[in-house]
Amino acid sequence: MRIFADGVESAGYQCIVPPMFEDLGVFLRLGDATDVVTKEMYDFEDKGGRHIALRPEHTASVCRAYAQHRPTPPWKVWYSGPNFRYERPQAGRFRQFDQVGIEVLGVDDALLDVEVIALGWQFYQSVGLKNVSLIVNSLGDNGDRTRYVEALALYFSERAHQLSPEALATLERNPLRVLDSKRGQDADVIAGAPTIGQFLSLSAAEHFAAVCAGLKTLDIPFTVNERLVRGLDYYRRTTFEFISTALDSAQNAVGGGGRYDGLVEDLGGPATAGIGFALGVDRTLLACDAEKCFEFGSPQIDVFVIDTTDGTHALRLTTLLRASGFSADRAFDGRSMKAQMKGADRSGALVAVIIGESEAEQSTCTVRNLSTSEQTTIPLVDLQSHLQSIVGPKQPRRQSQ
Ligand code: HAM
Repeated sequence: MRIFADGVESAGYQCIVPPMFEDLGVFLRLGDATDVVTKEMYDFEDKGGRHIALRPEHTASVCRAYAQHRPTPPWKVWYSGPNFRYERPQAGRFRQFDQVGIEVLGVDDALLDVEVIALGWQFYQSVGLKNVSLIVNSLGDNGDRTRYVEALALYFSERAHQLSPEALATLERNPLRVLDSKRGQDADVIAGAPTIGQFLSLSAAEHFAAVCAGLKTLDIPFTVNERLVRGLDYYRRTTFEFISTALDSAQNAVGGGGRYDGLVEDLGGPATAGIGFALGVDRTLLACDAEKCFEFGSPQIDVFVIDTTDGTHALRLTTLLRASGFSADRAFDGRSMKAQMKGADRSGALVAVIIGESEAEQSTCTVRNLSTSEQTTIPLVDLQSHLQSIVGPKQPRRQSQ
């Protein structure tokens, strides 16, 4: 979360905390042809008879907030939090899952699409994932998409006898989603289906070409996949997905997003361009595990304070050290010296600072390097500079006024 926030805040995005539930109507705008709306919503009536739903994603809430509060565009926001979808749970697919994401409202420029995609890409790089690939596509403007869906509906209907029963059911609801079928029986028909590229208007094609050129300028590797349709209905023009090849192919999308010009309008606001992405935190962590991005057992704590008097020295010292930028922990319940030393070892701290009766009387402390077991007794006033010589320099934490 901190890595994500640092990256997007350095690009001017501000944190927004949308509500965990909204009026059902907000999420119905995601499109009545999407599974997220028709099958997967956790919706209920509250005590006042209102029809409420737990959020299945954040984008609709952000657009609702924009339509309601009308901030000055461009409005660049980031968020993080849980979402709820009544899906069939399996590896990498959960009914409650976390996302981090960004949304920008009020900018039509293709170079913004590039900025947004690049921020997602850079996040995966900064957590150390090497096996993430980027797929991009354009679903065209509203009219292009409608004409493409009509052509697909016709194409698949003419070949209905070759499709699986599941694909036929999907065809009834949303012909685009048939392209997503992973069933072997559907593969040949899908391979011959019309592609969106043939239906793009000149302006949509130019926009997409500018996005691809911008990604090349930044040396971000990508593949254009005209079969990328995404699971939500609001997308127009640029769409993209980040795929982890370290994960099982069934649930390997670690993030995705795109443009949704028109969604704010659907929610009662002015005509507003919009684009964003959400990265699945659970799947990203699974990919990090698969790629061994994080070292386990690495020190989490700089200092563990051991107080064998009445515990108040540890109280004062941990507070002081934390304010000076060190991470510091301690034991409670008046444990014995031996038990507190065990706690210090378990914490992974680099250093133990020990205060017993004699140290307390003389305003000193004993500093023990937990990896070399060397220890020395020093005046308390010298503690911070001594610790910095062992764990490195620290910046004082900002205090609230
Ligand atoms: P989405 O593709 O539905 O897009 O979800 C984004 C990411 O959330 C997926 O790539 C996946 O990593 C994760 N995810 C989705 N469902 C589950 C699940 N059941 N279990 C675990 N992880 C899951 C959106 O949600 C859009 N709101 C993204 C967006 C933002 N588009 C524009 N702005």
